[in-house]
Amino acid sequence: KKVVLAYSGGLDTSVILKWLQETYSCEVVTFTADLGQGEELEPARKKAELLGIKPENIFIDDLREEFVRDFVFPMFRANTLYEGTYLLGTSIARPLIAKRQIEIANMVGADAVAHGATGKGNDQVRFELGYYALRPDITVIAPWREWTLNSRTTLLDYAEKNQIPIAKDKRGEAPYSTDANLLHISYEGKALEDPWVEPDEDMFTRSVAPEKAPDTPTYIEVEFKNGDAVAIDGKALSPAALLTELNRLGGENGIGRLDLVENRYVGMKSRGVYETPGGSILLVAHRAMESITLDRGAGHLKDELMPRYAELIYCGYWWSPERLAIQALIDQTQSLVNGTVRLKLFKGNVTVVGRKSPNSLYRMDYVTFEQDSVYNQKDAEGFIKLNALRLRLGAMAKQKIG
Ligand code: ARG
Ligand code: SIN
Repeated sequence: KKVVLAYSGGLDTSVILKWLQETYSCEVVTFTADLGQGEELEPARKKAELLGIKPENIFIDDLREEFVRDFVFPMFRANTLYEGTYLLGTSIARPLIAKRQIEIANMVGADAVAHGATGKGNDQVRFELGYYALRPDITVIAPWREWTLNSRTTLLDYAEKNQIPIAKDKRGEAPYSTDANLLHISYEGKALEDPWVEPDEDMFTRSVAPEKAPDTPTYIEVEFKNGDAVAIDGKALSPAALLTELNRLGGENGIGRLDLVENRYVGMKSRGVYETPGGSILLVAHRAMESITLDRGAGHLKDELMPRYAELIYCGYWWSPERLAIQALIDQTQSLVNGTVRLKLFKGNVTVVGRKSPNSLYRMDYVTFEQDSVYNQKDAEGFIKLNALRLRLGAMAKQKIG
């Protein structure tokens, strides 16, 4: 028996590693992904080795470009927000981790995969729907739903008993539950569990407080090709490099902090705080790019589908036929979303101040309030009268006018 474990190198997944060896007496293969969480990954290798994993069973992959190119960017083509606010930073990373984990399982001939998500959250669903969609006969092990190490004390005791190194900052009070990648960092738990309590300023790691941000605005230009951002201030960047740069610009200007209560798929409401500096800029920029390049009907249709699309991603249905179908529709609308958006970043705000495109649908000669020669104002009279007909008939019926 062989199992591939999604391994972060942290305390929880290290305990899981030992527990898997002990409980299932199986060979454990560890998989650690660099998704731009901003942590060194070599310590995870060291730790896996220390816990008895053979070097050939340790997989560490840099997935940053794939993450942004094939997951984040497609999602941003839809201007995706869950429940009107959440940019889905964690939700969109899970399908990629699941995919790579199954690839490794196939490579090493494993029949099982394991993850460190609890039985109370969304992540377990996202991982496992991914596993099953990509390998229908896989065995899934979710230790948090099986074991008895469900309190912090028992977990720490188990770690101590098994010589699992515990980072100094993990010994005392429970830390926030966080999840980080190139798109965002999330915080849940601890003081945040009371939705009335404002987080401590020192919790934040990716952005300065808006009130501490520079007193002069930063102007940037983001260039789009087929709906994806490709350059900043004229400099072409790879997807991951571009998002990294937007994160830097957003973070310095206090952009992208979110504090919200969301509906988890498993039923309860949960309070989360997020920092999504680059993503928050990208969302505004993309919409502005679409505002001059996208036809109204196409634009409104994708806006209607967006909440459904967001829910599919939030709930773990990235690999579902309906997500793929909506994606195809969205992608089809993006071929003319080309051009440049000019933005002003200032104390937590992203303001669009300019937009231009080689395929702009915006026509000054049609819209101008000055004299024009292309639009006949008289046409509007019949247009309004026919559109008003059913309103008039309704009103006549109500007022019993013959
Ligand atoms: N609530 C967010 C979501 O469902 C973030 C979850 C963070 N996950 C974690 N393991 N800390 O997408
Ligand atoms: C977890 O339970 O592992 C984190 C929270 C979530 O997935 O929603």
